[in-house]
Parts: sequence; structure tokens; C-alpha cells
Amino acid sequence: MNELINRINSSASLDELDKIRVELFGKKGLITSEFAKLKSIPADEKKAFADELNKRRDVFNEAILAKKTELDFIELKARMKAESIDVTLFDESRDIGALHPVMSTMDNIIEYFLAQNFSIETGPLIEDDFHNFEALNLPKYHPARDMQDTFYINDKRLLRTHTSPVQIRTMENSKPPIRMICPGAVFRRDMDLTHTPMFHQVEGLVVDDGNGVSFANLKHILEDFLRYMFGDVKVRFRPSFFPFTEPSTEVDISCIFCKGKGCRVCSHTGWLEVLGSGEVDPNVFKHVGYKNVSGYAFGLGVERFAMLLYGVPDLRSLFEGDLRLLEQFK
Ligand code: PHE
Repeated sequence: MNELINRINSSASLDELDKIRVELFGKKGLITSEFAKLKSIPADEKKAFADELNKRRDVFNEAILAKKTELDFIELKARMKAESIDVTLFDESRDIGALHPVMSTMDNIIEYFLAQNFSIETGPLIEDDFHNFEALNLPKYHPARDMQDTFYINDKRLLRTHTSPVQIRTMENSKPPIRMICPGAVFRRDMDLTHTPMFHQVEGLVVDDGNGVSFANLKHILEDFLRYMFGDVKVRFRPSFFPFTEPSTEVDISCIFCKGKGCRVCSHTGWLEVLGSGEVDPNVFKHVGYKNVSGYAFGLGVERFAMLLYGVPDLRSLFEGDLRLLEQFK
């Protein structure tokens, strides 16, 4: 008996302890087989035999339980040590984010115009009819409103379809000279390879007294800007129409993929359309009460620039938040 107690007390693991428990209390265990003898023991000796056996059983049980508690605790301590985390440890493998390609393109555009002394203006994303259309020489029922696939909130409010309303807001709140850009999100009901319902524009507006701001000024700054963005490209001004500029032009650059020879991206024309611009229409000045001034304005789509600069084939992929795409811009 002492030897067994010694073995219990000196067992080094829960496994070892369990083996001893089976030796004692298992089907063929020592204590179990002693109890089995009770059947064949004469009635008058039974009580004494059973008392003695119960005592032994209790001694063994107590010893096993005590040892088990001790070993459990040791094991717990070892596990806690093994699984502990040093929260102060510096993890070299941490992922750092990257600027979204649309945002880095926007930053690049902003940087150019800041260097040319333009201020940065902003305006509300939810606009009213007056600022988004009316004041920009797009009266109600004017067919040019069909150019804009507008998200209306109600009769009066809508999500701005371009950044041009910020031209109006800036002129309402300040006097010439004005030299501003407005970067920001705009919204149109459109969704395909080259359109998403939300995208970004950068608007530009320059206004000064008298006839000081000419088409030549507009042409000069846009040519310089486009070469800053796209490198050594040809720039061409094509007559076009916008209700808020007169004359209006769309601006193309020679295709940066085929160098103007003609490819799929430029629809084999050799040219890529990148901007809308023109001299500010006198009707726009009338709406904000400006007299004896001249000016030019331009607007561009930031996603269009990003697509060309980074060779993104499907514009929608820019807004899916897929890390496999975004990680390429680190
Ligand atoms: N607002 C026009 C558009 O969204 C772009 C533009 C701005 C054209 C300023 C001319 C002058 O298409």
C-alpha cells in the first residue's frame, strides 16, 4: 500500500497518474478485485473486510485527487506560458496601406495647380437645381440636361452631376480675380466599363476683370498641365459644346499607349479625350452678377486619368475594394 501511495505522489504527469488509477480502480484493478471478493467472504467477516477496503479506497482516492490537482496546476502554468502573447512585441510583418490610385492621381493634379497659384474650393455633394443646372446656363427643359443622368433626391435637391456648381458658389462668395480648382466626388446614373455612379472630377475656374483672361491662357495652362501628367504628348483642342462655356472645346492628348498610331484604347483614332473646357459663357456671369469680366473653365474626370496612367481596363474595379488590386499600388 505504501509503495502505491509513493508511486502516486511521485508521478510526473497526468498520464502516469491515470495509469495508477486504472491499476487500482479499473475493471481488473486491485481495489476492484478486492471488492469482488466480498461475495465469497463469510457473512460474519464481511463487515470488517468491507470497512477496511473502503478505508483503503478512500486513502487512494484522496492521494490521487491531491496529486491530480497539483499536476493540473503545473500543466496550466506551462500552457499559459506557452500561449502567452507579448503585446509589446514589434511585428515587422505588419501591412501598411497604400493610397488609392484615384486619390494619388487627384493629389498629383492638385499639386500642379497649387504650384500655379490656384486655390482649392469645395462645395456640397447634395446640390440644388439652381447651382447644378440653372446658373450654369442649363435652364429647365433645356435639352442639354439630357447629358446629365441625374440622381434626384426630390424636386429641388439632387446629387451634383459635376463639380461645376462650385464655380457658381465661389463666384457668389467672392469677387474677381478668381483662380480656383475644385476636386471632389460627383454622381451620375451610369455603370459600365468606363463609368461608375460615383466618380471624381477636378474643376478649374479663372476669372479676372475686363478681357484679361483669354483662350490663349486656357490653352497654355492645359497644355502644360497635360504634359506634366502624361509626359511628352501632343495636345489638341476640338470644338465642342457645354452650356456654361462659349466657345467650348474638348481636349485630347495623343494616345499614350500607341503614341498616336492607333490602338484599341484610343479606338484607332490616335487620340484620347481627357478634358472639357472653354471660355465662361456670359450667361453664367449674369447669374452671379459679375460684369465686365472674362474667364475660362475646365473640368476633368480623375478616374479617366487614373485609368490611363495605371492602365486599369475596367473602371468599376477601382471601387470594389479588392485588396488584390489595391496592393498593386503600394
Ligand atoms: N462640367 C463638365 C462635365 O461634367 C466639364 C466642364 C467643366 C466643361 C468646365 C467645361 C468647363 O462634363
